[in-house]
Amino acid sequence: MLRFAGYIGMGIRPCNRTGQTKFMSCRADRIMRERQDTVPEPTIAVRGVTVFREFLDSSAQVSMLEELRDLVAAAPLLSPQTPYGRPMSVRMTSAGKYGWRSDRTGYRYESRHPSGAPWPAIPGSVLSVWEAVTGLRRQPDCCLLNFYGAGARMGMHQDRDEADFSFPVVSVSLGDDALFRIGNRTRGGRTESVWLSSGDVVVMGGESRLLYHGVDRIRHGTSGLLKEGGRINLTLRVVD
Ligand code: SIN
Ligand code: MN
Repeated sequence: MLRFAGYIGMGIRPCNRTGQTKFMSCRADRIMRERQDTVPEPTIAVRGVTVFREFLDSSAQVSMLEELRDLVAAAPLLSPQTPYGRPMSVRMTSAGKYGWRSDRTGYRYESRHPSGAPWPAIPGSVLSVWEAVTGLRRQPDCCLLNFYGAGARMGMHQDRDEADFSFPVVSVSLGDDALFRIGNRTRGGRTESVWLSSGDVVVMGGESRLLYHGVDRIRHGTSGLLKEGGRINLTLRVVD
């Protein structure tokens, strides 16, 4: 049974999940043993990327948004640059032990916001999603918050700045719909895309952990969650 009563009754069916892939290491085996017995069943899987549609109902989205407003007040959004000096179209900030940064120096995790303050704690509602979909007792070290205004996108990339790829990456979508593209473990090749809507949760773990992925575009104004439109994506990762 799910430990998080808030998610029960939202159309999520608990199931025993036993499937492991050859990509998983011994450490991953141990991690799997540390999981709770039951995690919800995803709605769809694309190349091993699992999507839990409408995982958060509208009241859960509104209360999470409240917590995210406090997060952004404590750690204001930044306008990052790529290591090549190009401005990124998303604005971002973080919560947790580490924040993910990008600028001319490169991609990295840092333990403080550029203001000098430590990153705020990851909101409880966000940690609950991690625990519910992964079943892991180990909590994520970083919650990266990306804000997509009209026209923002995210180029194809791998999440590979973390020490241990046996931990999954969990991502939460809030606000406008986004076209999420899933590729391969090397750059290029055929891809598949899914539209993500507010309240959807994506897990990239096991064989899908290192797949290239990106956001081609958002459909501005498709959700009423954010008054001015736009999309928030939260990415949760274990860093070290
Ligand atoms: C990312 O992978 O960095 C963001 C994914 C998303 O916005 O859905
Ligand atoms: Mn990513």
